[in-house]
Amino acid sequence: MTFTVSFDQITKSFGPVQVLHGVSFELEPGRVYGLLGENGAGKSTLMKILAGYESRSGGRLLLAGREVNFQGPRDAETAGIAMIHQEFALAEDLTIMQNVFLGHEKTKGLWLDDAAMRAETALVLKEVGLQAAPDTPVRRLIVAEKQLVEIAKALQREARLLIMDEPTATLTPGETERLFALMARLKARGVTIIYISHKLDEVERVTDDIVVMRDGRFVARDHTSQVSRQQMATLMIGRELADLYPRKDPRPEGAPLIRVQGLNVPGWAKDISFEAAPGEILGFAGLVGAGRTELFEGLLGLRPATVERVEIAGHAVRIRSPREAADLGLTYLSEDRKGKGLHVNFPLRQNLTLMALKQYCRPWLRPDAEQKALREAVDAFGIRTGSLTIKAASLSGGNQQKLALAKVLHPNPKVIVLDEPTRGVDVGAKRDIYFLIQRLAREGRAVIVVSSELMELIGCCHRIVVMRGGVQQATLASDEKLTEEVLIRHATGTH
Ligand SMILES: Nc1ncnc2c1ncn2[C@@H]1O[C@H](COP(=O)(O)OP(=O)(O)OP(=O)(O)O)[C@@H](O)[C@H]1O
Ligand SMILES: [Mg+2]
Repeated sequence: MTFTVSFDQITKSFGPVQVLHGVSFELEPGRVYGLLGENGAGKSTLMKILAGYESRSGGRLLLAGREVNFQGPRDAETAGIAMIHQEFALAEDLTIMQNVFLGHEKTKGLWLDDAAMRAETALVLKEVGLQAAPDTPVRRLIVAEKQLVEIAKALQREARLLIMDEPTATLTPGETERLFALMARLKARGVTIIYISHKLDEVERVTDDIVVMRDGRFVARDHTSQVSRQQMATLMIGRELADLYPRKDPRPEGAPLIRVQGLNVPGWAKDISFEAAPGEILGFAGLVGAGRTELFEGLLGLRPATVERVEIAGHAVRIRSPREAADLGLTYLSEDRKGKGLHVNFPLRQNLTLMALKQYCRPWLRPDAEQKALREAVDAFGIRTGSLTIKAASLSGGNQQKLALAKVLHPNPKVIVLDEPTRGVDVGAKRDIYFLIQRLAREGRAVIVVSSELMELIGCCHRIVVMRGGVQQATLASDEKLTEEVLIRHATGTH
């Protein structure tokens, strides 16, 4: 059964803050839609309403012309709608099979019918192309595999409409290709797909139509082939976007501000050495899984590592924890903002000032100073939030990223390591972050950027270290001659 979805004047408020203002548009069955909009535009919220995770404050939701009122995700599932969340929602301690059947287990008499569930799970796993046994605990899977489990779960429930909220943010290029191939197969079977992404090149490639939202409102809908990437960006932010990258300053000379020699992270990175001068922006390129994140986690004392020598501003130092590193003038933005970057159940204010707690505790805690710092950070980083008193978990995905960034810069560090700083942020905010990185460098800091988006490294950095399988493959000058192809060749070992 296929159906048209109609949003009719949908509104949504969280307490006093209205985030959807009468959204109306329709989705035809069997097409792939790209849902675009700035961070905080309301994309995830609208989709959660469609999938039964959030209730709407007003308006009507119609499937095939009939109004529906979902009381929860189970109702939406029954109607054929499934959602894969921006932040995953699988039960980590259960097996793949238990996750696939969670909430509607098969029974035989009084007992769970494990045999039947196992067989059906094997079938859907085959369909999505995941080679793992149904009894594998989800905790043991890598991100791309967890995502396939989410899709397998949707297939098992015979979803006719699949919502994917930024599915490729943490996938390697190969995993992304496999996901796109799977989407094409689903589409051929008549499944409608709603694809939310800030990667406009992917939107261009895989979607039939785009729908654009801005500030909780519907603004445009068109065939993807009729809209250029530049136009998509303009529709999203409501104005023309100037050049994405700042003009590069020449590579600074001078004694290194940070120097790392012979860093080993067992199982992840072997004998890595690098340095960065004041004013320098050093990139780390590589595929997801190349060991870049683990390398810096090792440097920061977050996982076992050995190192021959680390110097900050010419002094040999020992770093055993991120707190010690911060005291030495080195801060680190984790790629995993939910797990390690933010305390999502704490309010924004505490998140911002936690690292620089000393400043606020002398001689006693100063909430007014904290509040002022938060207001400044919200302005400086363009964090979109209706209220300053919400928990970090209630910010939209991209705005959580901006808060995490504000947090690592708050203690005024000399050396800054940013792991995937633009993951999940919209084009306008990406540009802001690139200009911010340049400003930080101009202030005489050393900035290290770890990223899977090669173009952004080429656009921002003076030099780029390429890693593959935990080994430093090359350190390249990032000038006009450097291309994405060259980086890919080093990152994949095909040169
Ligand atoms: N539980 C909540 N409490 C308060 N505000 C919320 C809650 N959930 C979402 N919001 C707010 O609703 C607005 C829309 O958020 P939403 O997550 O829908 O944005 P988005 O378009 O998905 O953005 P992104 O691209 O960053 O993921 C944001 O301002 C967000 O802070
Ligand atoms: Mg979102």
